[in-house]
Amino acid sequence: MTDLFEPATFGKLQLANRIVMAPLTRNRAGAGQAPGELNAVYYGQRASAGLIVSEGTQPSAVGQGYLDTPGIHSPEQVEGWRLVGDAVHAGGGQIVVQLMHAGRIAHPDNKAGLETIAPSAIAAPGQIVTPTGQQDYVLPRALATDELPGIVADYVHAARNAIAAGLDGVELHSANGYLLHQFLGDTSNARTDAYGGSPLNRARFVIEVATAVAEAIGADRVGIRISPAHGIQGIDEKDATDVAATYGALVDGLAPLCLAYLHVLGDPRSDLVRDLRKRFGGPLIVNDGFRSLTDLETAQQFLAEDLGEAVAVGRLFLANPDLPARWRTGAELNEPVQATFYGGDERGYTDYPALTD
Ligand SMILES: Cc1cc2nc3c(=O)[nH]c(=O)nc-3n(C[C@H](O)[C@H](O)[C@H](O)COP(=O)(O)O)c2cc1C
Repeated sequence: MTDLFEPATFGKLQLANRIVMAPLTRNRAGAGQAPGELNAVYYGQRASAGLIVSEGTQPSAVGQGYLDTPGIHSPEQVEGWRLVGDAVHAGGGQIVVQLMHAGRIAHPDNKAGLETIAPSAIAAPGQIVTPTGQQDYVLPRALATDELPGIVADYVHAARNAIAAGLDGVELHSANGYLLHQFLGDTSNARTDAYGGSPLNRARFVIEVATAVAEAIGADRVGIRISPAHGIQGIDEKDATDVAATYGALVDGLAPLCLAYLHVLGDPRSDLVRDLRKRFGGPLIVNDGFRSLTDLETAQQFLAEDLGEAVAVGRLFLANPDLPARWRTGAELNEPVQATFYGGDERGYTDYPALTD
């Protein structure tokens, strides 16, 4: 039986334990959307994770969705990520940056007036926080077929920047309703070219991005996150047959690349996730979503049932910089404070105490 505290190897990534810090958007990037000292302290505090997956990070300026999220496309941002990587490595940890192009989950007011682009001109339901308060999502402009290689190139550029900054790799964010997921979803993708229609066509863009990024920095430094059938941000995925076909096509396209890992947000006990794991053939990081908090018992149980090779932990890692030590010793936990999740300063960010404080 695999234990949470056993080491693991995922491609080039050497995990000291199987507790992965889940990607957590915190909206605290500095000037020029670059990480700064405060962000380096935050990630450095959490270096005892087997692997840190960074907050969603835009591969291009137009790929920004929310306020104050970091990018990894400018030289200034690369230098900011170097601070973060150095802090994590100094603590003996490893960090991959999550590349998140937000697509239609965006607003021009959050990114200096830049337009919103997506697979199709279909607005996301709901609203987004902007500097002037909540606003409806705007109608995105549908990307032309001949623009897609440019988006792939942005991912490749960002991935190369991650390596240049000294980070350990990248995770492609193809979950939770952002650009790559918008290609997969049949309610967000109404394209009539080779990137829309059939399940394989909807999976095509994600496979192309993964292939190009793997070629650029090595597949053993690339992971990917998906959230099949999670029903999020207007991508409902209610047709189980279509979901199985779409994600089956995706994972069959990814399997030959031998990526470092697959990261699934969703029920790891479902037939769907079990099937995807088998077809992927490499390490699986599990996380069963927002509805319940990933606690020690849940995480241990996932590994005891052999549902994956590691468990991603979000909110409890946010609130407990030394979570693996606390779980190992049965120490008390700090409670996550929702009011300071998104945006603000060091409060609710770097001031959660460690056991040794
Ligand atoms: C504040 C916050 C920010 C998040 N940001 C991201 C993100 O940038 N990328 C992503 O893939 N998931 C994101 N998630 C989802 C988490 O990675 C994780 O799947 C979720 O919190 C459920 O795990 P938990 O129960 O361990 O918290 C976020 C969740 C929270 C609470």
